[in-house]
Amino acid sequence: MFKTLTLAATTAFALTGGAALAAGGEGHIHDVNFSFEGPFGKFDEAQLQRGLQVYTEVCSACHGMKFVPIRSIGEEGGPNIPEDQVRAYAEFWEVWDPEIMDYRTAKPTDHFPPSSLENAPDLSLMAKARAGFHGPYGTGLSQLFNGIGGPEYITSLLTGYTGEEKEEAGVVLYENTAFPGGWIAMAPPIGDEYVEYADGHPNDAESISEDVAAFLMWTAEPKMMARKEAGLTAFLFLTVLTVLLYLTNKRIWAPVKKKKA
Ligand code: HEC
Repeated sequence: MFKTLTLAATTAFALTGGAALAAGGEGHIHDVNFSFEGPFGKFDEAQLQRGLQVYTEVCSACHGMKFVPIRSIGEEGGPNIPEDQVRAYAEFWEVWDPEIMDYRTAKPTDHFPPSSLENAPDLSLMAKARAGFHGPYGTGLSQLFNGIGGPEYITSLLTGYTGEEKEEAGVVLYENTAFPGGWIAMAPPIGDEYVEYADGHPNDAESISEDVAAFLMWTAEPKMMARKEAGLTAFLFLTVLTVLLYLTNKRIWAPVKKKKA
């Protein structure tokens, strides 16, 4: 009796698991060659500026970035916006000030506001909260070669809409090939030419999506370049140290080895 029960439960589990996979499961993520990949990778300043523009003009209507200080967009290695422009940019935002118990115009020292739409997640750390690449079979090999894939996930998500919609319990869901499960509550936010770039960069849906994804990688890890530099320095230092220790070791043992020969 017990055995049949567990067997039935396992079968049911396997069946529902299979159904979930068939209904979308892991989404489809396409690889993007971002400038910041690899040990020598660097953020592309112009791309971060375009991404900031996309976030400001499109995504911020629903999504917040409450962990990101506005003044950080003036940082070198980031969008590197000149100081006077950072001040002018800050005035674009209204923030809640608990001291005066009211909204006021933002200053560069304030953070970006939180999400204005309740069910839209904060985007500050999103690029590190999602993985684009997995497997195969839990080995993580794909991540070793392609990276974790957060920015690729965001790019694929923004360009992954099929155009199909359905309504479930009063919520409109949009079919999306990158979103796990296949149906997302976010209406397609990006399309060709949704944003006009001052630098004349292509503004097709894929380019806009890559730009905002790169920008969100920077907000999630603004010190990535410093980290890579420190890693590289440590690597070079350890390599030199290895050679020196090898030579020292040889020298110390040389008299002993000579006697044997
Ligand atoms: C009209 C409101 C709206 C706009 C504009 C919008 N989003 Fe969303 N977004 C949502 C909502 C709602 C969700 C939650 C969807 C869900 O969980 O089904 C979401 C979810 C997301 C997610 C998380 C998906 C996941 O894996 O959980 C990402 C990433 C995202 N949006 C990025 C963006 C970017 C980048 C932009 C700007 C190009 C943008 N969104 C513009 C409403 C919006």
